[in-house]
Amino acid sequence: MRRLRSSAGLRGLVRETELRAGQLVLPMFVAERLGPGASDGREPIATMPGVARLSLSAAVEEARAAAELGLAAVMLFGVPAEKDAHGSGAWDDEGVVQLATRAIKQALPGVLVMTDVCLCEYTTHGHCGVLRADDSVDNDATLELLARTAVSHARAGAAVIAPSDMMDGRVGAIREELDGEGFTDVPILAYSAKFASAFYGPFRDAAGSTPAFGDRRGYQMDPANGREAVREALLDVSEGADMLMVKPALAYGDLIAAIKAATQLPVAAYNVSGEYAMVKAAAAAGYLDERATVLEILTSLRRAGADTVITYHAKEAAQWLAEQS
Ligand code: PBG
Repeated sequence: MRRLRSSAGLRGLVRETELRAGQLVLPMFVAERLGPGASDGREPIATMPGVARLSLSAAVEEARAAAELGLAAVMLFGVPAEKDAHGSGAWDDEGVVQLATRAIKQALPGVLVMTDVCLCEYTTHGHCGVLRADDSVDNDATLELLARTAVSHARAGAAVIAPSDMMDGRVGAIREELDGEGFTDVPILAYSAKFASAFYGPFRDAAGSTPAFGDRRGYQMDPANGREAVREALLDVSEGADMLMVKPALAYGDLIAAIKAATQLPVAAYNVSGEYAMVKAAAAAGYLDERATVLEILTSLRRAGADTVITYHAKEAAQWLAEQS
């Protein structure tokens, strides 16, 4: 086996997996109001070194930097100034994601703007849907609000709609509403296999979306279940999903491969906030070489079967890839 490993040329000749900047998506937090720690429209997020909550104009600049590095797309998360029980900020045509989508589209028509569709950043209780009297999340009442949110994002110019709420039937409900409103060409990237994970901790700091009580295990998946993840993916395909997502990524490579094999659809892996924070912390402590670690992680996710990787390291990775070639 070592004969083909003996030079960089030979290794390149037989390398099975390629990683390109155009396969990476940069998630961004756009805030309606920044805190006192902000400067130049950027408010650093303590648990995610290098990532900031952004003002509208800073978000446009961030998207511009992403595009210049050759990234395919940005994925927007909104941090609204006000929340309510139903999360009505999510489908407000003048909401923070809608405004950011329009601003980025206008300044950078070539950039794909993906939007995360969920209510948790917009609800006072921090759950991903509306609550019943007993505080459980009402699935079907939530579907209508998600569909409304998706249409509002599409109207603002979103290129891809990515529902992350994990309600049953939401892909079908969103597809129907998008089609009914004339957005037949807007694809859905379904967070099909989204697990109730400890790796989302830093994101919840960033987006202010930690549940006020309880947890998300009543709607997000049990990390112990793999066959169920494939069933979730197949259901999303039957409801009209165009791309499927596995989230988190690092501990779920088996499911990236299984979902790819079962569906043959494009699969995205979400290298989530906690995965980013782990690498940043280890690199800052001098325990790991950040560049080598990140490129190995991203390449491994591609090898597992991910066509696309959503990662907070997207800009740095694109820069490192450009330096390599
Ligand atoms: C919203 C949502 C979450 C993430 C993406 N969309 C948080 C959650 O479900 O609690 C996590 C992303 C990350 O950790 O980077 N539902």
